[in-house]
Amino acid sequence: MTAAAPQPKYRKDYTAPDYFIRHIDMTVDIGETTEVEALLDIERNPDRPSGQPLQLDGENMKLLSIELDGKFLTEADFEVHAKGLNIPSLPDRCQLRTRVVIDPHNNTALEGLYRSGDILCTQCEAEGFRHITYYLDRPDVMASFRTTIKADRSTYPVLLSNGNPIAEDAEGDRHWITWDDPHPKPCYLFALVAGDLARVEDTYTTASGRDVALRFYVDHGNESRCTHAMQSLKAAMAWDERVYGLEYDLDVYMVVAVSAFNMGAMENKGLNLFNDRFVLADDTSATDEDYIHIEDVIGHEYFHNYTGNRVTLRDWFQLSLKESLTVFREQSFSADQGLGAVKRIGEVRQLRRVQFPEDASPMAHPVRPESYIEMNNFYTPTVYEKGAQVIGMMHTILGDAAFVHAVQEYLEKFDGQAVTIEDFVATLEQSSGQDLQQFRLWYSQAGTPRLTVTEHYDADAQVYELVIKQHVPDTPGQKNKQPMHIPLVLGLLDDSGQPVSLDIETAAEVTPQSPTQALVHLRETETTLRFPNRPSRPVVSLLRGFSAPVKLDLPHDKSDLHFLVRHDVDPFSRWDAGQTLLLRAALEAEQALRAGNAPAFDEALGETFSALLETAGSDDQALLAEMLALPGETYIAEQLDVVDPDAVVGAYQALRQYLAGAMGEHLKAAYEALRPGGAYRIDAGSIGRRRLQRQVMDYLAAYDPDALAGYCWQQYDKADNMTDTIGALAAINDLPGDTREQLFADFEQRWRENHLVMDKWLRLQSTARRDDILERLEQLMQHPIFSLRNPNRVRAVIGAFTVDNMPGLHRIDGSGYRFVADYTLKIDQLNGQLSARLVSCLTRWRRYEPQRRQLMRAELERIQQAGNLSSNLYEIVSKSLA
Ligand code: PHE
Ligand code: ZN
Repeated sequence: MTAAAPQPKYRKDYTAPDYFIRHIDMTVDIGETTEVEALLDIERNPDRPSGQPLQLDGENMKLLSIELDGKFLTEADFEVHAKGLNIPSLPDRCQLRTRVVIDPHNNTALEGLYRSGDILCTQCEAEGFRHITYYLDRPDVMASFRTTIKADRSTYPVLLSNGNPIAEDAEGDRHWITWDDPHPKPCYLFALVAGDLARVEDTYTTASGRDVALRFYVDHGNESRCTHAMQSLKAAMAWDERVYGLEYDLDVYMVVAVSAFNMGAMENKGLNLFNDRFVLADDTSATDEDYIHIEDVIGHEYFHNYTGNRVTLRDWFQLSLKESLTVFREQSFSADQGLGAVKRIGEVRQLRRVQFPEDASPMAHPVRPESYIEMNNFYTPTVYEKGAQVIGMMHTILGDAAFVHAVQEYLEKFDGQAVTIEDFVATLEQSSGQDLQQFRLWYSQAGTPRLTVTEHYDADAQVYELVIKQHVPDTPGQKNKQPMHIPLVLGLLDDSGQPVSLDIETAAEVTPQSPTQALVHLRETETTLRFPNRPSRPVVSLLRGFSAPVKLDLPHDKSDLHFLVRHDVDPFSRWDAGQTLLLRAALEAEQALRAGNAPAFDEALGETFSALLETAGSDDQALLAEMLALPGETYIAEQLDVVDPDAVVGAYQALRQYLAGAMGEHLKAAYEALRPGGAYRIDAGSIGRRRLQRQVMDYLAAYDPDALAGYCWQQYDKADNMTDTIGALAAINDLPGDTREQLFADFEQRWRENHLVMDKWLRLQSTARRDDILERLEQLMQHPIFSLRNPNRVRAVIGAFTVDNMPGLHRIDGSGYRFVADYTLKIDQLNGQLSARLVSCLTRWRRYEPQRRQLMRAELERIQQAGNLSSNLYEIVSKSLA
């Protein structure tokens, strides 16, 4: 690096701002380039010393003029540098007017004001506003916003910003509109959109009888594809009223679908911006999973209106305050919409697949980070998903009613303020009377705690005993951690599989949840639980409902696990017992392969899983689909100290092949029986049936590829919905042959105009297991719909390859790593947020066998030496090589 290395910011260095901005009156004049005039009402913070310089943030802009209280400043009065503008001293109250020029058409980073297709739009979280105008770009500076947008009438007929439109006019081929947002907000919640968009409108009547206009803005032609998003929005509004007593607080709620967007969506006050993949859907083009994601993301952004917007963040280290609570609310909403326990299983699968690895990586950080170089790198599974589990644990500890009540108190107490995670936890504590002192470690200690459980049954004394040890691993910058407060929900089953009424002798605090289920508060390094009066050895069901985000070494032998798969009453633990069985089998196979032996599997394993398949006609098909799905390759690899990708992939395949063989012809009967009876519907039951059918097809691909090809052909041909269509393609994806080629070619012909649908086509091909995968990826990137400037396309080809193509990425000649590094560097010139995410597949190089380790590291070093990296990429690469 030639330029000075970017420096970290630390949480401990927080100081309140020297100045506040109370109001901003902005005019954005859109033309060839864009001129932004901002009039700031500035007030000195009385709690800070007077005479401090004003240091405004501002990047990538050209300053035209600056006036203080109506007088133009000259160059001697201020100093402009690459990151902002300083004025040495300022009166206690003043008005500052700046005029700058920005260039949204050449903004490929997609933060600040940028072009997406033919529209202009903004993304300001976390620190994008400083690319629009000079400002105090920090969330504890809150202002009311008035925004005037001026633009060409035919190119930009729709002009939107936060709040309500209060004036508009037109002259010749130009027009302007003024928006007023009375709620003081941090600038990261500012939004502006200009373009030629269609509007779909509906109304929601709040519990107190106010009408709210709901408006979706989408590209012309997509009007009919907003129905599901609109319904989801109404459902979310009703849910927040019913569960938290929260009503929407403005007269208009707007959602704009944008095709070039770095993230999922953004909760700007009254004007959400969405990645279009989380808005647009209809039966022929959207899968079940798309429908579910749309509902989740619409809910998520809506719930931010209180948790994030009305009560916002003091500083970016508090990010999880808004995100984890909002994810938790989204997950509760989503579970209430129908899939219940299965939804929870999906969340846990995702946490294990993505967050556990992060927590064991060079990027491991606490839910509330202590430092960052580039804030955009901290929108992580740890801050979001682990954070949501932390909220979930407090929900478990407080109980539902007390938790909801405490959140309501928090929202009332801090309404309109910028606060901290500590403010939240303290409110929960005061409101509920629970002691959360030790619990706070979840916010400060990184790493996934590990519970190791041993059991002992004393037949003479008729006592069953469990000893539970906890250990939190070292992570970068953190060693020798303290024991955490871990809520562990458990139950016992007797030898007939019946739940046992619980009587526990222990020094730990125990909260009964029912006669047969208890919450044990683990607080020590070691906890002993004694269960007296047990005439026979019971089987314990631990971590019910995934009561804490921990790794758990179960005391069970295989027969206990088979027993739990058959009898456990808690769906999560039943599923997890099955996963543990499968995982152990996969790990044994992995070991065998590394020793040069053929993997072998117990007959009992085949019996248990074939028996599950026999229940395919039952009511909970969605749960059954989860039970039958193997732990993924990434999760298998996660268990190993040294990862040999060939052995992991081989073990996974061998296990799948073995189970498929055990299920045999039953797979065909099950497939036939699961055929749709009528037209496409997206209720929970139908979704469950389709998921199960897809799982059956996955085994069929291993058991009888020819039969499967026939099914795929028919299914594709008859499908009246995208779930069945894509299901056919996915099932045949790794089976080379004519059927595969023809289906993929036909699909392309049918859908080439629809980029969101084509993303599915790209994604499947990037994850296909084939020897020429890298050539194929290059070809895909030549496709007319592909562009390195569109994050959805890049994620569909390169992103999917890095996370879901273990054999391709880890090719022993290093070509997969080279491919990733080449494109990371290319994309970094355009979009640092995107490149930083792509490279994360290389960051855990230390965990791989020596040859891969060398190859991965060499690519990271090559990136580092390329120089001129974005701060995003610089942070990830330097931390992983450190
Ligand atoms: N705050 C957004 C969300 O969760 C995510 C986001 C972050 C979007 C940064 C854009 C940029 O809901
Ligand atoms: Zn969010």
